[in-house]
Amino acid sequence: MKSPDRPDAAAEASERDHAVLTVGDVHKHFRRANGQDVPAVDGVSLEVRAGECLVLLGPSGCGKTTLLRSIAGLEHPDSGRIEVEGRPVFCSRDRINRSPQQRRLSMVFQSYALWPNMSVFDNIAYPLRQRGFKRAQLKAEVRRAGELVGLDEILRSYPNHISGGQQQRVALARALVSGDSLVLFDEPLSNVDAKVRQELRIELKGLQHKLGFGAVYVTHDQEEAMELGHRIAVLEHGKIAQMAGPEELYSRPVSRYVATFVGSTNEIEGTVESVDADGAVLSTALGKVVGARVGPDVTAGGKAVAIFRPEAGRVRAERPDGPNAWEARRRDRLFSGTHSEYVVTHERVAYRVWSDGAPVPAEGEMGWLTVPPSDVHIFRP
Ligand SMILES: Nc1ncnc2c1ncn2[C@@H]1O[C@H](COP(=O)(O)OP(=O)(O)O)[C@@H](O)[C@H]1O
Ligand SMILES: [Mg+2]
Repeated sequence: MKSPDRPDAAAEASERDHAVLTVGDVHKHFRRANGQDVPAVDGVSLEVRAGECLVLLGPSGCGKTTLLRSIAGLEHPDSGRIEVEGRPVFCSRDRINRSPQQRRLSMVFQSYALWPNMSVFDNIAYPLRQRGFKRAQLKAEVRRAGELVGLDEILRSYPNHISGGQQQRVALARALVSGDSLVLFDEPLSNVDAKVRQELRIELKGLQHKLGFGAVYVTHDQEEAMELGHRIAVLEHGKIAQMAGPEELYSRPVSRYVATFVGSTNEIEGTVESVDADGAVLSTALGKVVGARVGPDVTAGGKAVAIFRPEAGRVRAERPDGPNAWEARRRDRLFSGTHSEYVVTHERVAYRVWSDGAPVPAEGEMGWLTVPPSDVHIFRP
């Protein structure tokens, strides 16, 4: 028989690997003043495991904040089910709708949302006071949270006497002090400058590793999403367009929307000449374009777009062998510090490709634009 105080390895592993958040088919519509109906969240389902950071990525207006606020209990969804640590906090069918305080989660906002008339200490202590912590324990927990985010020196200061980066650290400490297993972030770093943003991202990753909370992190910044997310859900008009790890999202996007939102792309529009299991051939202004990665609903005779990343493309002085060699003019060279990019044009359309040291045409001269078919995605436009 298993002794309860000596859990076996499997039990221990399942303790760490469980869902801290489950969202099932959540819908939330808004009605605009002009009567227009906006499906802000349109049937979203997802799960966040303990210690996992799920990033919600998408352009402004795609429903990120509405989804996050629905999870937090600040927005009342039309339908669906939301569970935190396996407990339903919202369920339209069972008429459950717990208040934000009852949901046992914390939230960090873009605007910091600190109390200006309270010291850093009292701001961090706020959720503990709400939960009725005794003085001695409250003091110890606030000091511990302050230390975690490097605020121990300024606990007596007031929010308007500290920098934006420090203010966001206070908001972070306030979210972490309660020890909730789920923390929601709504674009928390978009108001701090680039250097502090970089520091805080690294610290946030470290804190998550150390404390093991699950996170839902909203951003419109694809670089931030790639750095922070164990998985990324790309939102498009309130729906999840694709949910995957950063590498898969980058190398196997399922649509033009995802491909262009995550990383830079070159695009060539055309008509599908043929499509089979090995790929598709497009007829375009550049000439024939062969792509091996074909998205859904690409059919012969229909319109399609070929997409490739700048790092997959090249410009050559000599005509390369094989398919996907197109005559084009070499323009500028752009040096970024880590690599050089060439701008190549064909009929006033510009493409960007990386250099690999092989000979390129002189600036302004004709040459060859090329990319391997295995790096070309073909999608419906
Ligand atoms: N209170 C509201 N009333 C009406 N429309 C809203 C309201 N809140 C958000 N919306 C609309 O819902 C959509 C999603 O908004 P939001 O969730 O804020 O997107 P994001 O955070 O991705 O920028 C947008 O079209 C927005 O205009
Ligand atoms: Mg938003």
